[in-house]
Amino acid sequence: MTYETIRVEIEEGIATITLNRPEVLNALNSQVFNELAAAAKNLGEDEGVRGVILTGGEKVFAAGADIKQMASLNAVEVVKSIRPSRIAFNLIENLQKPVISAIAGYALGGGCELSLTTDVRIAADNAQFGLPEIKLGILPGGGGTQRLPRLIGAGKAKELIFSGDIINAEEALRIGLVNKVVSADQLMAEAKKMAKKFISKGAIALQLAKSCINEGLQVDLETGLQYEHKCFALLFATEDQKEGMQAFLEKRKPNFQGR
Ligand code: CAA
Repeated sequence: MTYETIRVEIEEGIATITLNRPEVLNALNSQVFNELAAAAKNLGEDEGVRGVILTGGEKVFAAGADIKQMASLNAVEVVKSIRPSRIAFNLIENLQKPVISAIAGYALGGGCELSLTTDVRIAADNAQFGLPEIKLGILPGGGGTQRLPRLIGAGKAKELIFSGDIINAEEALRIGLVNKVVSADQLMAEAKKMAKKFISKGAIALQLAKSCINEGLQVDLETGLQYEHKCFALLFATEDQKEGMQAFLEKRKPNFQGR
Protein backbone atom coordinates (compact mmCIF):
# COMPACT_ATOMS: atom_id res chain seq x y z
CA MET A 1 0.00 0.00 0.00
CA THR A 2 1.39 3.42 -0.88
CA TYR A 3 0.67 6.44 1.25
CA GLU A 4 1.14 10.13 0.51
CA THR A 5 0.73 11.80 3.89
CA ILE A 6 2.32 9.17 6.12
CA ARG A 7 5.27 6.77 5.85
CA VAL A 8 5.20 3.24 7.21
CA GLU A 9 8.38 1.26 7.85
CA ILE A 10 8.63 -2.17 9.43
CA GLU A 11 11.81 -3.43 11.09
CA GLU A 12 12.25 -6.38 13.44
CA GLY A 13 8.52 -6.70 14.13
CA ILE A 14 8.06 -2.99 14.93
CA ALA A 15 6.19 -0.74 12.52
CA THR A 16 6.90 2.97 12.57
CA ILE A 17 4.21 5.28 11.20
CA THR A 18 5.53 8.78 10.47
CA LEU A 19 3.17 11.66 9.74
CA ASN A 20 4.52 13.36 6.65
CA ARG A 21 3.11 16.81 5.90
CA PRO A 22 6.03 18.91 7.15
CA GLU A 23 4.97 22.00 5.17
CA VAL A 24 1.91 22.39 7.44
CA LEU A 25 3.47 21.00 10.64
CA ASN A 26 1.79 17.63 9.99
CA ALA A 27 -1.72 19.15 10.19
CA LEU A 28 -4.22 16.31 10.04
CA ASN A 29 -6.62 16.44 7.08
CA SER A 30 -9.06 13.79 5.90
CA GLN A 31 -6.41 12.15 3.70
CA VAL A 32 -4.12 11.72 6.72
CA PHE A 33 -6.98 10.21 8.74
CA ASN A 34 -7.90 7.83 5.89
CA GLU A 35 -4.28 6.76 5.47
CA LEU A 36 -3.83 6.33 9.24
CA ALA A 37 -6.96 4.17 9.30
CA ALA A 38 -5.69 2.04 6.39
CA ALA A 39 -2.27 1.69 8.02
CA ALA A 40 -3.79 0.71 11.37
CA LYS A 41 -5.95 -1.90 9.65
CA ASN A 42 -3.02 -3.32 7.64
CA LEU A 43 -0.65 -3.39 10.59
CA GLY A 44 -3.34 -4.95 12.77
CA GLU A 45 -3.69 -7.81 10.28
CA ASP A 46 0.07 -8.22 9.70
CA GLU A 47 1.21 -11.04 11.97
CA GLY A 48 4.82 -10.00 11.47
CA VAL A 49 4.10 -6.69 13.20
CA ARG A 50 4.00 -6.97 16.98
CA GLY A 51 4.34 -3.34 18.02
CA VAL A 52 3.77 0.10 16.50
CA ILE A 53 5.45 3.48 16.97
CA LEU A 54 3.63 6.61 15.85
CA THR A 55 5.69 9.74 15.30
CA GLY A 56 5.76 13.00 13.40
CA GLY A 57 9.51 12.97 12.92
CA GLU A 58 12.20 15.09 14.54
CA LYS A 59 10.61 18.55 14.36
CA VAL A 60 6.88 18.29 15.02
CA PHE A 61 4.35 15.65 15.98
CA ALA A 62 1.22 17.39 14.61
CA ALA A 63 -0.14 20.93 14.97
CA GLY A 64 -3.75 19.72 14.99
CA ALA A 65 -6.55 19.16 12.55
CA ASP A 66 -6.14 21.07 9.30
CA ILE A 67 -7.67 24.47 10.01
CA LYS A 68 -7.67 25.37 6.29
CA GLN A 69 -9.82 22.32 5.54
CA MET A 70 -12.14 23.06 8.49
CA ALA A 71 -12.56 26.81 8.38
CA SER A 72 -15.44 27.07 5.90
CA LEU A 73 -17.38 23.93 6.89
CA ASN A 74 -20.96 24.14 8.11
CA ALA A 75 -22.29 21.95 10.93
CA VAL A 76 -23.53 19.22 8.59
CA GLU A 77 -20.25 19.08 6.69
CA VAL A 78 -18.24 19.00 9.92
CA VAL A 79 -20.16 15.95 11.16
CA LYS A 80 -19.15 14.19 7.93
CA SER A 81 -15.57 15.42 8.12
CA ILE A 82 -15.11 14.15 11.70
CA ARG A 83 -15.93 10.56 10.67
CA PRO A 84 -12.50 9.68 9.20
CA SER A 85 -10.72 10.92 12.33
CA ARG A 86 -13.04 8.95 14.57
CA ILE A 87 -12.48 5.79 12.53
CA ALA A 88 -8.69 6.26 12.48
CA PHE A 89 -8.45 7.09 16.19
CA ASN A 90 -10.60 4.10 17.19
CA LEU A 91 -8.61 1.73 14.97
CA ILE A 92 -5.33 2.91 16.50
CA GLU A 93 -6.66 2.77 20.06
CA ASN A 94 -8.00 -0.74 19.54
CA LEU A 95 -4.98 -2.23 17.76
CA GLN A 96 -4.29 -5.53 19.48
CA LYS A 97 -0.60 -4.64 19.77
CA PRO A 98 1.20 -2.03 21.84
CA VAL A 99 1.30 1.44 20.26
CA ILE A 100 3.80 4.07 21.42
CA SER A 101 3.81 7.71 20.35
CA ALA A 102 7.22 9.33 19.98
CA ILE A 103 6.56 13.05 20.19
CA ALA A 104 8.92 15.88 19.25
CA GLY A 105 7.85 19.53 18.90
CA TYR A 106 4.19 20.51 18.80
CA ALA A 107 1.43 18.03 19.66
CA LEU A 108 -1.55 20.36 19.53
CA GLY A 109 -5.29 19.88 19.14
CA GLY A 110 -5.95 16.81 17.00
CA GLY A 111 -2.22 16.01 17.23
CA CYS A 112 -2.38 15.79 21.01
CA GLU A 113 -5.65 13.86 20.69
CA LEU A 114 -4.02 11.42 18.27
CA SER A 115 -1.30 10.72 20.85
CA LEU A 116 -4.03 10.00 23.42
CA THR A 117 -5.20 7.03 21.34
CA THR A 118 -1.82 5.33 21.81
CA ASP A 119 -0.89 3.21 24.82
CA VAL A 120 2.22 5.10 25.85
CA ARG A 121 3.59 8.56 25.03
CA ILE A 122 7.31 9.33 25.01
CA ALA A 123 8.18 13.01 24.62
CA ALA A 124 11.36 14.66 23.42
CA ASP A 125 12.49 17.48 25.72
CA ASN A 126 11.40 19.97 23.02
CA ALA A 127 7.81 18.64 22.86
CA GLN A 128 4.89 21.00 23.49
CA PHE A 129 1.36 19.90 24.21
CA GLY A 130 -1.98 21.64 24.20
CA LEU A 131 -5.60 21.67 23.16
CA PRO A 132 -5.88 25.20 21.72
CA GLU A 133 -9.27 24.63 20.05
CA ILE A 134 -10.99 27.04 22.48
CA LYS A 135 -8.93 29.86 20.90
CA LEU A 136 -10.54 28.99 17.54
CA GLY A 137 -14.04 29.14 19.01
CA ILE A 138 -14.44 25.35 19.05
CA LEU A 139 -13.70 22.48 21.42
CA PRO A 140 -11.48 19.43 21.04
CA GLY A 141 -13.39 17.20 18.63
CA GLY A 142 -10.94 14.32 18.34
CA GLY A 143 -11.70 12.72 21.69
CA GLY A 144 -9.86 15.30 23.82
CA THR A 145 -12.76 16.01 26.17
CA GLN A 146 -13.13 12.25 26.78
CA ARG A 147 -9.66 10.67 26.65
CA LEU A 148 -7.73 13.48 28.34
CA PRO A 149 -9.75 13.53 31.62
CA ARG A 150 -9.59 9.72 31.73
CA LEU A 151 -5.80 9.99 31.53
CA ILE A 152 -4.93 13.02 33.69
CA GLY A 153 -8.16 13.68 35.64
CA ALA A 154 -10.97 16.15 35.00
CA GLY A 155 -9.40 19.13 36.82
CA LYS A 156 -6.16 19.29 34.82
CA ALA A 157 -7.99 18.41 31.58
CA LYS A 158 -10.44 21.28 32.13
CA GLU A 159 -7.59 23.70 32.82
CA LEU A 160 -5.87 22.73 29.56
CA ILE A 161 -9.07 22.71 27.48
CA PHE A 162 -10.56 25.93 28.94
CA SER A 163 -7.29 27.90 28.65
CA GLY A 164 -5.90 26.47 25.41
CA ASP A 165 -2.48 26.83 27.09
CA ILE A 166 0.52 25.05 25.66
CA ILE A 167 2.67 23.14 28.16
CA ASN A 168 6.20 21.80 27.82
CA ALA A 169 7.36 18.20 28.08
CA GLU A 170 8.32 18.41 31.77
CA GLU A 171 4.88 19.73 32.72
CA ALA A 172 3.27 17.04 30.54
CA LEU A 173 5.28 14.45 32.47
CA ARG A 174 4.34 16.00 35.83
CA ILE A 175 0.59 15.78 35.09
CA GLY A 176 0.78 12.28 33.62
CA LEU A 177 0.11 13.24 30.00
CA VAL A 178 3.34 11.54 28.92
CA ASN A 179 5.15 8.52 30.35
CA LYS A 180 8.69 9.68 29.80
CA VAL A 181 10.79 12.62 28.59
CA VAL A 182 14.07 12.04 26.78
CA SER A 183 16.52 14.22 24.87
CA ALA A 184 15.36 14.88 21.30
CA ASP A 185 18.20 12.87 19.74
CA GLN A 186 17.25 9.82 21.82
CA LEU A 187 13.52 9.89 21.05
CA MET A 188 13.29 7.14 18.43
CA ALA A 189 15.91 4.97 20.13
CA GLU A 190 13.94 5.16 23.37
CA ALA A 191 10.63 4.39 21.62
CA LYS A 192 12.20 1.37 19.90
CA LYS A 193 13.74 0.19 23.16
CA MET A 194 10.36 0.32 24.87
CA ALA A 195 8.61 -1.36 21.91
CA LYS A 196 11.20 -4.16 21.95
CA LYS A 197 10.66 -4.67 25.67
CA PHE A 198 6.89 -4.94 25.13
CA ILE A 199 7.06 -7.33 22.17
CA SER A 200 9.47 -9.67 23.94
CA LYS A 201 6.52 -10.63 26.19
CA GLY A 202 3.72 -13.05 25.37
CA ALA A 203 1.67 -11.42 22.62
CA ILE A 204 -1.68 -12.83 23.77
CA ALA A 205 -1.12 -11.80 27.40
CA LEU A 206 -0.17 -8.34 26.21
CA GLN A 207 -3.20 -8.11 23.93
CA LEU A 208 -5.57 -9.17 26.70
CA ALA A 209 -3.94 -6.87 29.27
CA LYS A 210 -4.47 -3.96 26.85
CA SER A 211 -8.05 -5.02 26.27
CA CYS A 212 -8.73 -5.31 30.03
CA ILE A 213 -7.44 -1.78 30.62
CA ASN A 214 -9.18 -0.19 27.63
CA GLU A 215 -12.50 -2.00 28.20
CA GLY A 216 -12.26 -1.53 31.97
CA LEU A 217 -12.06 2.24 31.54
CA GLN A 218 -15.51 2.20 29.87
CA VAL A 219 -17.39 0.23 32.53
CA ASP A 220 -18.00 0.03 36.29
CA LEU A 221 -15.37 -1.64 38.50
CA GLU A 222 -17.25 -4.90 39.06
CA THR A 223 -17.85 -5.42 35.31
CA GLY A 224 -14.19 -4.65 34.65
CA LEU A 225 -13.05 -7.10 37.31
CA GLN A 226 -15.25 -9.83 35.85
CA TYR A 227 -13.76 -9.20 32.41
CA GLU A 228 -10.26 -9.30 33.87
CA HIS A 229 -10.95 -12.64 35.61
CA LYS A 230 -12.16 -14.18 32.33
CA CYS A 231 -9.10 -12.94 30.42
CA PHE A 232 -6.84 -14.20 33.23
CA ALA A 233 -8.39 -17.67 33.04
CA LEU A 234 -8.24 -17.65 29.24
CA LEU A 235 -4.46 -17.18 29.33
CA PHE A 236 -4.12 -20.58 31.03
CA ALA A 237 -5.17 -22.06 27.68
CA THR A 238 -2.05 -20.63 25.99
CA GLU A 239 1.36 -22.18 25.45
CA ASP A 240 2.90 -18.89 26.53
CA GLN A 241 1.50 -19.34 30.05
CA LYS A 242 3.01 -22.84 30.27
CA GLU A 243 6.32 -21.55 28.91
CA GLY A 244 6.38 -18.45 31.17
CA MET A 245 5.79 -20.40 34.36
CA GLN A 246 8.02 -23.33 33.36
CA ALA A 247 10.85 -20.90 32.54
CA PHE A 248 10.47 -19.30 35.97
CA LEU A 249 10.66 -22.68 37.68
CA GLU A 250 13.69 -23.67 35.58
CA LYS A 251 15.35 -20.29 36.29
CA ARG A 252 15.70 -19.40 32.59
CA LYS A 253 14.36 -16.71 30.26
CA PRO A 254 10.97 -17.56 28.71
CA ASN A 255 10.73 -18.01 24.96
CA PHE A 256 7.22 -16.78 24.13
CA GLN A 257 5.67 -17.78 20.78
CA GLY A 258 2.43 -15.82 20.94
CA ARG A 259 0.18 -18.87 21.09
N1 CAA B 1 -3.87 23.48 10.14
C1 CAA B 1 -3.46 23.92 8.93
N2 CAA B 1 -2.25 24.50 8.73
C2 CAA B 1 -1.45 24.61 9.79
C3 CAA B 1 -1.82 24.18 11.09
C4 CAA B 1 -3.10 23.58 11.23
N3 CAA B 1 -3.52 23.10 12.40
N4 CAA B 1 -0.80 24.46 11.94
C5 CAA B 1 0.16 25.03 11.21
N5 CAA B 1 -0.22 25.14 9.92
C6 CAA B 1 0.53 25.70 8.80
C7 CAA B 1 0.55 27.22 8.85
O1 CAA B 1 -0.63 27.76 8.30
C8 CAA B 1 1.79 27.51 8.06
O2 CAA B 1 1.47 27.41 6.69
P1 CAA B 1 1.91 28.60 5.67
O3 CAA B 1 3.41 28.54 5.68
O4 CAA B 1 1.31 28.18 4.36
O5 CAA B 1 1.38 29.87 6.25
C9 CAA B 1 2.72 26.37 8.39
O6 CAA B 1 1.89 25.32 8.90
C10 CAA B 1 3.74 26.74 9.47
O7 CAA B 1 3.02 27.22 10.60
P2 CAA B 1 3.36 28.62 11.32
O8 CAA B 1 3.96 29.58 10.34
O9 CAA B 1 2.14 29.07 12.04
O10 CAA B 1 4.50 28.13 12.33
P3 CAA B 1 4.89 28.78 13.72
O11 CAA B 1 6.13 28.07 14.14
O12 CAA B 1 4.91 30.26 13.64
O13 CAA B 1 3.69 28.38 14.73
C11 CAA B 1 2.10 26.88 15.74
C12 CAA B 1 3.48 27.06 15.06
C13 CAA B 1 2.11 27.59 17.11
C14 CAA B 1 1.89 25.38 15.95
C15 CAA B 1 1.01 27.50 14.85
O14 CAA B 1 1.17 26.99 13.53
C16 CAA B 1 -0.38 27.18 15.28
O15 CAA B 1 -0.87 27.79 16.22
N6 CAA B 1 -1.07 26.20 14.61
C17 CAA B 1 -2.43 25.85 14.89
C18 CAA B 1 -2.54 25.07 16.19
C19 CAA B 1 -4.01 24.75 16.48
O16 CAA B 1 -4.80 25.63 16.72
N7 CAA B 1 -4.35 23.44 16.48
C20 CAA B 1 -5.70 22.99 16.71
C21 CAA B 1 -6.37 22.78 15.39
S1 CAA B 1 -8.11 22.48 15.54
C22 CAA B 1 -8.21 20.84 15.93
O17 CAA B 1 -7.23 20.13 16.08
C23 CAA B 1 -9.62 20.33 16.05
C24 CAA B 1 -9.76 18.99 16.67
O18 CAA B 1 -9.99 18.88 17.84
C25 CAA B 1 -9.70 17.76 15.89
